[in-house]
Amino acid sequence: MALLDVSDLTVTFRTNDGPVNAVNGLDFTLAEKESLAIVGESGSGKSQTAFAIMGLLARNGAATGRVAFDGTDLLSLSPRQLNTVRSNQIGMIFQDPMTSLNPYIRVSDQMAEVLQLHKGLSKTDAITRAVQMLDAVRIPDARARVSMYPHEFSGGMRQRIMIAMALLCRPRLLIADEPTTALDVTVQAQIMTLLGEIREDFDTAVILITHDLGIVADFCDRTLVLYGGQTMEEGPTAPIFADPSHPYTAGLLRAVPRLDREAEVLRTISGEPPDMSNLPAGCPFSPRCEIARDHCPTVKPGLAPMTDSRHRACHATPAEMHEEMRDG
Ligand SMILES: Nc1ncnc2c1ncn2[C@@H]1O[C@H](COP(=O)(O)OP(=O)(O)OP(=O)(O)O)[C@@H](O)[C@H]1O
Ligand SMILES: [Mg+2]
Repeated sequence: MALLDVSDLTVTFRTNDGPVNAVNGLDFTLAEKESLAIVGESGSGKSQTAFAIMGLLARNGAATGRVAFDGTDLLSLSPRQLNTVRSNQIGMIFQDPMTSLNPYIRVSDQMAEVLQLHKGLSKTDAITRAVQMLDAVRIPDARARVSMYPHEFSGGMRQRIMIAMALLCRPRLLIADEPTTALDVTVQAQIMTLLGEIREDFDTAVILITHDLGIVADFCDRTLVLYGGQTMEEGPTAPIFADPSHPYTAGLLRAVPRLDREAEVLRTISGEPPDMSNLPAGCPFSPRCEIARDHCPTVKPGLAPMTDSRHRACHATPAEMHEEMRDG
């Protein structure tokens, strides 16, 4: 059984201008210890997918479908039951560490509180565990620094503290939503390396949400490409990067600089991301797709298997796509 089995997940927000369909019938699974990247441009529904899984949607939002974690549908749990699963088994890292860290409370007290509350440890034992965890995320001199306030750490160090907090209760699933976008490139690389090591050491499954395809290639076993809250393409990371099978993925990859290709022209995908309150009945990417057929805006391509482990949603075959997009 998969650790996480998401089926037909739909997230809708009520707004004064009508419903906003942020996530539209998403299906994916995540095995124990596996890492999955969810990629896509701003507004494609990445964060709302994570929030729906965690039961953290804004008050005007509602999720339907099924989010089975270890066989239990999280969407059907009471807030109290959900809180138990969440605090013990699922950790989450956000883009901005200060959303999870209280600026007025010492790091030691914030970390200890989690362990006292959820694991029933004494304060002394909890602080010992907190220091061990700060060591694990390579905070230098953790024992001395644990009693400092969050603002006394650099941005990169705060991100490490947040990773330590997310891992304190040894979750089986870690959801990291743009964990490094607020950091400079060097620190970004350090944090990603750290996440990779932690994943091995703790046997944690990871969902990494990012719009930066560059960091996905080295890190994630599988990749799901999201557009308009729908899967465009999904499968093992290496083949998707080597040979994208969806025009949107191909477009995203053309915008990423690559060391193995000389003097290539980097191009962004033209056009605007979709209006989530007014998606086409067919493929959400069709208005921007350079190889769109007449029926693409009106007839939705189903997510169909391409190989045993890979799926795509496109009316053009991969061969047609390569032919028509060549040099394009
Ligand atoms: N509370 C809300 N009310 C109405 N619409 C919302 C609300 N929260 C999010 N949305 C909309 O849901 C859609 C998906 O948002 P989401 O945050 O998942 O995007 P994202 O893929 O994470 O983008 P980014 O890369 O910018 O973080 C967007 O169109 C957004 O405007
Ligand atoms: Mg987001």
